[in-house]
Amino acid sequence: MSTLTEQKRGFWDDRAKLGKISGSNDFMLKRIETDFILRFLPRGARVLDAGCGNGETLIEACEKIAINGMGLDFSPEMVALATQNGKPLKDRLSWRFADLRDLPKDIGLFDAVYTQRSLINLNSLDEQREAFENIMALVKPGGCFIMVECTIDGQNKTNAQREILGIEKMEIPWHNLFFSIVEVESWQNAGRRIEYFDHISSTYHFLSRVVYAAVGEPDGGELKYDSKINKIALRLPPNIGDFGPVKGWIWRKSG
Ligand SMILES: C[S@@+](CC[C@H](N)C(=O)[O-])C[C@H]1O[C@@H](n2cnc3c(N)ncnc32)[C@H](O)[C@@H]1O
Repeated sequence: MSTLTEQKRGFWDDRAKLGKISGSNDFMLKRIETDFILRFLPRGARVLDAGCGNGETLIEACEKIAINGMGLDFSPEMVALATQNGKPLKDRLSWRFADLRDLPKDIGLFDAVYTQRSLINLNSLDEQREAFENIMALVKPGGCFIMVECTIDGQNKTNAQREILGIEKMEIPWHNLFFSIVEVESWQNAGRRIEYFDHISSTYHFLSRVVYAAVGEPDGGELKYDSKINKIALRLPPNIGDFGPVKGWIWRKSG
């Protein structure tokens, strides 16, 4: 295992201590992502969360749409946290230590698999492609892969607006490698197609990272993830424009 992978595992092990916000400080953006995932999960389906973090999304899916299934993560601390959080649903959900680059072969197939910003943690495009292929191999014929991941395209769009207003560029975190939309599209073949694509973080990112970043708090205080403007963004359709790094793809495997 490369040193970089071990550094990343250490980073996520540490973040597990944050509990509810261990997967992202931006809990409003996570709400938008989770709503997208829940919208496309078939009721009662067998589901895999690949890079499950604290397990919150899978637990919510189990409670709201009666799915069952499994969450995987390469951080032992995240697996422990998800196992603890998921205890009340232990008859329907299980949690396992696994790496996206080497997914277990003994877990059967799933009606739906999803990732929520986990593939961006891999070290190279080759590793991301390998993990994507591993995931598609676990999808039943006719099933779907819900891919919620960050793109450089959306990040650049937001940064271009920030630049106009004289706000510093948002950098990609050291542990992330963002996708290119065109590259992801090139992974389609006769056995799998992108059935739907959406700019799910567009409205939220434009309002929170451009407008709110420019206006700031009335007292000049620190910017907040639950600012009034961010809350307004949550009430609007998520996909006004094409801003924001986080995108949603629905992959369909041929039946
Ligand atoms: C941004 S967090 C998101 C967690 C969760 N999906 C959520 O939305 O809260 C990324 C997660 O991916 C996991 N991860 C990163 N690299 C991984 C790998 N190679 N294999 C499995 N999980 C990985 C991390 O441990 C972390 O829990």
